[in-house]
Amino acid sequence: MTATTANRRRWDPIVRITHWSVAIAVLANAVITEEGSGPHIWVGYALAAILALRLLWGLVGPPEARFSAFWPSPRKALGHLREIRAGKRTAHASHNPLGALMVYAIWGTLLTIIATGIAMAGPPPWDGAERGEGRHVAVAPGHAGERGEDGGEREDGEEGEEGEEGPLGEIHETAANLLYLLILLHLAGVIFETRRNGRQVLVAMAPIGR
Ligand code: HEM
Ligand code: HEM
Repeated sequence: MTATTANRRRWDPIVRITHWSVAIAVLANAVITEEGSGPHIWVGYALAAILALRLLWGLVGPPEARFSAFWPSPRKALGHLREIRAGKRTAHASHNPLGALMVYAIWGTLLTIIATGIAMAGPPPWDGAERGEGRHVAVAPGHAGERGEDGGEREDGEEGEEGEEGPLGEIHETAANLLYLLILLHLAGVIFETRRNGRQVLVAMAPIGR
């Protein structure tokens, strides 16, 4: 197989649209929205809906988008590493076995972020003032906040609300940091694969085009 062989079809539109929507939502919540603000939570719920669609697609979508096409398998991932080391190039109809591990790691981390985020945010409205209700957060009183400069977004009215959000907030933040690391590794993997095998992986995931 040469690097220019078009041996790979494009991912179907749902995979491509959900991929880029998830990426945009993660980027928005990581760098644009105020942590815990209304927009952060709206984007978060949108992210949850998009991910739900992709996971449903993993059950009912076309064969290469289904979980059955890329079950996580450390054994296959090691085999794939050996192939890379031996300079062998293999075509994969779905994610390659290493990529598959990364996909599940990203999904698992996103689900953790979403679950803790929703548990903290509770039902709408999420205009900051209302969010104090129904939250299952244990807040250490008097824990003056790093986010005190939120500009009044978080007037929950209780002492210490500006500070740590208890275990849920800790898990949410830790998972977000883990996600950033995974994304860096993901991008490194995409770059590596592109250098090794040409641009097929990128072309297959391109947001537009047939
Ligand atoms: C990948 C997307 C997301 C990223 C990168 C992200 C990141 C963060 C970070 C870094 C914080 C501050 C945590 C802390 O200091 O305690 C935060 C807070 C928060 N996030 Fe997210 N988040 C994301 C998704 C979500 C989702 C899906 C929801 C809910 C639907 C959500 C709801 C919240 C809430 C309610 C807070 C406030 C907790 C606090 O005040 O500490 N987030 N988020
Ligand atoms: C926040 C940023 C990102 C996240 C969370 C993310 C996450 C993911 C996930 C979950 C998949 C699996 C797709 C599926 O089966 O539904 C995937 C695949 C992929 N992503 Fe990303 N991604 C991000 C950014 C990017 C960027 C910036 C690029 C390109 C420069 C990229 C290129 C790809 C490619 C080419 C694949 C397919 C890999 C394969 O063929 O196995 N991703 N990504």
